[in-house]
Amino acid sequence: MSQRTCLSIILAAGEGTRMKSVVPKVLHTIAGLPMVAHVVKAAEAAGSGELALVIGHGADEMRKAALKFAPKAEAFVQEKRLGTAHAVLAARAAISKGYDDILVMFGDTPLIDPEALAAARLKLAEGAAVVVVGFRTENPSGYGRLIEKAGKLVAIREEKDCSDEEKKITFCNGGLMAVAGRHALNLLDQVGSKNAKGEYYLTDIVEIAAAQGLDVVATEASFENALGINNRAELAQAEDIWQQRRRREAMLSGVTLIAPETVFFSHDTEIGADTIVEPNVWFGPGVKIATGAKIHAFSHIEGATIASNCDVGPFARLRPGADLRTKAKVGNFCEVKQAIVEEGAKVNHLTYIGDARIGAGANIGAGTITCNYDGYSKFFTDIGEGAFIGSNSSLVAPVSIGKGGYIASGSVITESVPDDALAFGRARQRTLPGKGKELRERFSQAAAARKKG
Ligand code: UD1
Ligand code: CA
Repeated sequence: MSQRTCLSIILAAGEGTRMKSVVPKVLHTIAGLPMVAHVVKAAEAAGSGELALVIGHGADEMRKAALKFAPKAEAFVQEKRLGTAHAVLAARAAISKGYDDILVMFGDTPLIDPEALAAARLKLAEGAAVVVVGFRTENPSGYGRLIEKAGKLVAIREEKDCSDEEKKITFCNGGLMAVAGRHALNLLDQVGSKNAKGEYYLTDIVEIAAAQGLDVVATEASFENALGINNRAELAQAEDIWQQRRRREAMLSGVTLIAPETVFFSHDTEIGADTIVEPNVWFGPGVKIATGAKIHAFSHIEGATIASNCDVGPFARLRPGADLRTKAKVGNFCEVKQAIVEEGAKVNHLTYIGDARIGAGANIGAGTITCNYDGYSKFFTDIGEGAFIGSNSSLVAPVSIGKGGYIASGSVITESVPDDALAFGRARQRTLPGKGKELRERFSQAAAARKKG
């Protein structure tokens, strides 16, 4: 099948007012990726090489966004929203280039399965002119019904145009269609707008093709393939289904999720086998975890690279650029940003490490802060291999601590410390014998005098 050329047309000219948002509907995200980008990914996974994106008038935001998730896609503008067939024809110039297979998908139906697309393409390869991906549901209201005669698909009837008998049909149009490229324009150009909505329905090509004696086929896929998102409740439903799928995939690939329903992945999370993820962990975009890591409860991780056998959390926050090398440890209430934590280094408690490198085996004491920002610019802190940073130290960047350097706790370090040196950056302690008692007596007498007067 890979030799067959394929164009995917993604319709995304919907208004989406029910999202109550300034953001176009199909740019709302699932697992951190715009829903239309999920559709693009599915098309690519099904071997579709070319992409046409049909967008609404003035959708500059869509164009800009598409550059990121579909840089190769050609955008076509549907000036007026006259129906799904009309929308597909906005991409006429692309269709005219001549493809074996044409897939039509909706930008607001993000959970389509590449396998359903591949199955539809296979039917085209076997000679079908039109393939409709259907699904069965107990509650078909709102969907186009698949009308079959003698086991053959002959038409799709939209809900508003259905007879009472037809409304009882539970086999519905999921919205995904595959059309043989050599028939596509001929079929689409015959679509009229004589229906309850007065729209040019893509679904009408089924009846047109059947009437011409062309082979029309319905395949069946799961309901998710048809789940269209029209409001934020449906967006959350799609997110939920997506997360369930991803958790299962992670577990089947060797990751332990102790409470899977409390772990949230991003569209691009990479996580290796034998990693254990405790409950309530959030993965933002750009996280890569090798094998055998432990991610303890309530950690929030984005843009971080975590090597094998690292230990993270509980309550750790890893921000973009956090780069934990083998067996590094970042413990509770620590934040790490744009910093390398080299092999076996430990950042265990209540610490902020930003714009830094921590050498192998170094130990960062509780409450250490890299002071990386002066309100205008960011500066770098370099901590050498095997260094020891005493608790509650402030390292005022730019500054470097040499290999094996030792920082007394409570220090404010403003000057670099050479290898193996000991640095104090705090006032020397004074102890005054008996002074504590004297002070207490003075204060209590003063308080008593105030009460009387
Ligand atoms: C459509 C199908 C219906 C199917 C259902 C599945 C048609 C006529 N009907 O109905 O059989 O059961 O999807 O969810 O195809 N769009 C444009 N330009 C337009 C019109 C629509 O880009 O002029 C886009 C929309 O943004 C949307 C998609 O096409 O992403 C579907 O359009 P919509 O009006 O939502 O169709 P449905 O009534 O849901
Ligand atoms: Ca819809």
